[in-house]
Amino acid sequence: MEVGNRYVSLKKYINGAPCESDLEIKTAALSLEPRKGSGDIIDAPGVGEVVASDIADYNKGDWVADHIGWQEYSVIHGGETMRKIETKEFPLSHHAGILGLSGFTAYVGFHHVCKPKKGDRVFVSAAAGSVGSLVGQYAKLAGCYTVGCVGSKKKVDMLKDKIGFDDAFNYRDEPDLKAALKRHFPDGIDIYFDNVGGEMLEAAVANMNCFGRIGICGAISDYTNSIRTGTFDTVDTIDKRITIQGFLVVDYVHIYKEFLKATVDYLHRGEIHAVEDISQGLESVPAAFVGLFHGDNTGRKLVQVIHH
Ligand SMILES: NC(=O)c1ccc[n+]([C@@H]2O[C@H](COP(=O)([O-])OP(=O)(O)OC[C@H]3O[C@@H](n4cnc5c(N)ncnc54)[C@H](OP(=O)(O)O)[C@@H]3O)[C@@H](O)[C@H]2O)c1
Repeated sequence: MEVGNRYVSLKKYINGAPCESDLEIKTAALSLEPRKGSGDIIDAPGVGEVVASDIADYNKGDWVADHIGWQEYSVIHGGETMRKIETKEFPLSHHAGILGLSGFTAYVGFHHVCKPKKGDRVFVSAAAGSVGSLVGQYAKLAGCYTVGCVGSKKKVDMLKDKIGFDDAFNYRDEPDLKAALKRHFPDGIDIYFDNVGGEMLEAAVANMNCFGRIGICGAISDYTNSIRTGTFDTVDTIDKRITIQGFLVVDYVHIYKEFLKATVDYLHRGEIHAVEDISQGLESVPAAFVGLFHGDNTGRKLVQVIHH
């Protein structure tokens, strides 16, 4: 069986910052016996409606969340990342954001890697992004003092006025990041949730307290650099007994139910907010993707491919 399908593909290997011309939209028949290893369709987490299924318990009309690709129709095979969306009480977009990979990453990284205590001073980078905006909210719910850094005044205002960060600053206005962090954390940082790496990580290490914890979630400032920026002081990490841990959310699938229950409860009580930035149509995927590297998005960047 085949269905018509449009999808976004990479024209060539991206070296450095991506631009829209690196990506193209193609049309092809989607075979339910997909070509193995063709590697030309870009994988992305998302939600979709089942149109045909031979997987037990998944029927036509069900909604699923999984890695579904930047395309109109996807073949997915099931596995530990696939889950059926049982509740229709939240917008579907939440299942690709706050109740999906972003929320789960924020929850795992903050609660299970950074291990917060009430009163901890928490710093979050890329704090208006999909993960960062949720880390800050989990931190506030855990009774922590929370400051985020972002790339514009509009995002600073959003963090402080809409989602309850104690403070925020625009890193682009700060010629000296170490001094900026010293100003925002005169008593030092206990937890740094790192989404950006590079010079911000170096500045954060310099401002950490003894026994501080750094959860390394992402390194977006280094994804497009062939030369790594920022070198933190390793002697400082020894003197201050800092724990620095990189993590991958896929290693924590066993706590997905714990995350979902906690976050659904927060949503029911109105204690957490999903920040979403939705563009329309497959054609908007290249610009949406490139925009992530320029800070165009606020919150979870999503593309609505098909209207339902
Ligand atoms: N470890 C895991 O398992 C896991 C899982 C999911 C995601 N991640 C990683 O976690 C990080 C956050 O993901 P996300 O989905 O929240 O990201 P996102 O929503 O895509 O946010 C990206 C934001 O990063 C900021 N940014 C872009 N380039 C930057 C630079 N050079 N320096 C500083 N900030 C920059 C921009 O905001 P500003 O306007 O503030 O600059 C941009 O809006 C990413 O690095 C991602 O790869 C890790």
